[in-house]
Amino acid sequence: MSLSFSNKPIGIFDSGIGGLTVANAIRHSFPNEKIIYFGDTAHLPYGDKSADTIRYYAIRISKFLLEHDCKMIIIACNSASSAAYEVLLDFFKDKCIFVNVVDPLVNKAIENGYKKIGVIATKATINSNVYKSKIESQNQFVEVIQHATPLLAPMIEEGFCNDDISQSVIAKYLSHPEFEGIEALLLACTHYPLIKKELTLFFDNRIDILDSTEVVVTQVRDYLTEKKLLNTGEPVEPVFYVSDYTASFEETTNVFYGKKVQLIEKSIW
Ligand code: DGL
Repeated sequence: MSLSFSNKPIGIFDSGIGGLTVANAIRHSFPNEKIIYFGDTAHLPYGDKSADTIRYYAIRISKFLLEHDCKMIIIACNSASSAAYEVLLDFFKDKCIFVNVVDPLVNKAIENGYKKIGVIATKATINSNVYKSKIESQNQFVEVIQHATPLLAPMIEEGFCNDDISQSVIAKYLSHPEFEGIEALLLACTHYPLIKKELTLFFDNRIDILDSTEVVVTQVRDYLTEKKLLNTGEPVEPVFYVSDYTASFEETTNVFYGKKVQLIEKSIW
């Protein structure tokens, strides 16, 4: 029996396992949705790659997810969202719905009416200028201070959270004088929800710390509801692919997904 369109899977991809923070939020909010996750562990980190290289990877992964009949693809990586979202829309036209992790966070920041916003992310995301230009194009009176924080993603993957190492790296990056007076900090990397509490403490609860997980869930809910694509089938276990398998990646899924998951190696290059 062929699947109705609404019962097709949602594809989610990231450079590696950081995007599991998004997959976890989607899983909890939409237990009836089938999830196919692809972590491009053979090519991480994306944060150090050129925009052209990230676009090439994003197209290959999207082709793979479309071969699995995905009705929606969530780009659960800020580096890929900033480099490749428009290219994917153009390349795949109406084949499925693409959701990026940048726009929902930008819209939330605008909606909250901040006047000075800090953004931290990988070098690729910061160099793309995507947050600054999207926020300022909606409100030219908002000041956006952005700084690359490239050590944070590997630090989190290596399990350095809530300890003296993470605290000193966070203090080094976030003590930048330009961040003085920000009302909100946007966590523009899907690894960073894991250090949200530490960042809140660093700022003594004085500012809002926003990450993309909940706003992406809202965006996905809006799209699926509006297009009548919510899955009505029985809940199914998600499937997790990676382009390069190591036992240590599998161990680390616990940190990002809340439980250890089995990774299937799949080369798509
Ligand atoms: N999770 C990726 C992002 O949101 C960062 C990790 C990487 O550099 O590959 O940008």
